[in-house]
Amino acid sequence: MRIDVFTLFPQWFDWFRTQRHVANALGVGHTLACVDYRATTPLSAGQVDDTPFGGGAGMVLRIDVVEAALRARYGEDPVDATARPGRRVVALTPVGRLLDDAYVSELAAEDELVLLCGRYEGFDERILEHFCTDRLSIGRYVLAGGELAAMVVCDAVLRKLPGALGHEDSALEESFSPALEGAPEYPHYTRPAEWRGWTVPDVLLSGHHANIRAWRLAQSRARATGDAGSGRPLP
Ligand SMILES: C[S@@+](CC[C@H](N)C(=O)[O-])C[C@H]1O[C@@H](n2cnc3c(N)ncnc32)[C@H](O)[C@@H]1O
Repeated sequence: MRIDVFTLFPQWFDWFRTQRHVANALGVGHTLACVDYRATTPLSAGQVDDTPFGGGAGMVLRIDVVEAALRARYGEDPVDATARPGRRVVALTPVGRLLDDAYVSELAAEDELVLLCGRYEGFDERILEHFCTDRLSIGRYVLAGGELAAMVVCDAVLRKLPGALGHEDSALEESFSPALEGAPEYPHYTRPAEWRGWTVPDVLLSGHHANIRAWRLAQSRARATGDAGSGRPLP
């Protein structure tokens, strides 16, 4: 997969690239590039934003600036570039489609992912209407910019790609995955088997794989309908 992140802060991603599963994914041929809106802005003094029509606080990312950055990267009209099969152009915005496991899998199946990070008050609406296939939100709260949201998307997508994780199975049976019928994952335990009198469920120490599997699925299903937020194992 080829991932391009359009941002005003490309250096933020230097750390992100060094994270193990990201480095693994890049090592097997996937790419993660950052494109700085400022590098190709047609405006003077590196200007990328402007005051909102109609008044109000804050600054809005300009469409001519975003178009210049997309044109420089893809060598064609962004309207055509966005329509290319296998490419998703995703604007990060708090009011977009909420990211979940199914959405991550959908994005992970594409050849190219283009992530547009907003800043300040966000994007001129015409950017979203004409240059993007998706509007994606990582949650119903407002961050200062799209960079952390882009990293969340990249993290979740890259770890679904072959070669990113040490154990391929790790990504198959996880919270919200089809393997767990979309339910939260069951609880995990490791050594010591007892700590301050807090014990581990007997079934996990039994070595009986069918029973362990049944217990895990039951826990997972119970968490789907119960108080998953507490994180406590269910009786
Ligand atoms: C301060 S926010 C703009 C908020 C916007 N004025 C509003 O009220 O919806 C600046 C940028 O951060 C990013 N952002 C903030 N919260 C986000 C979220 N929950 N999910 C995805 N992107 C987010 C978007 O790219 C957005 O354009």
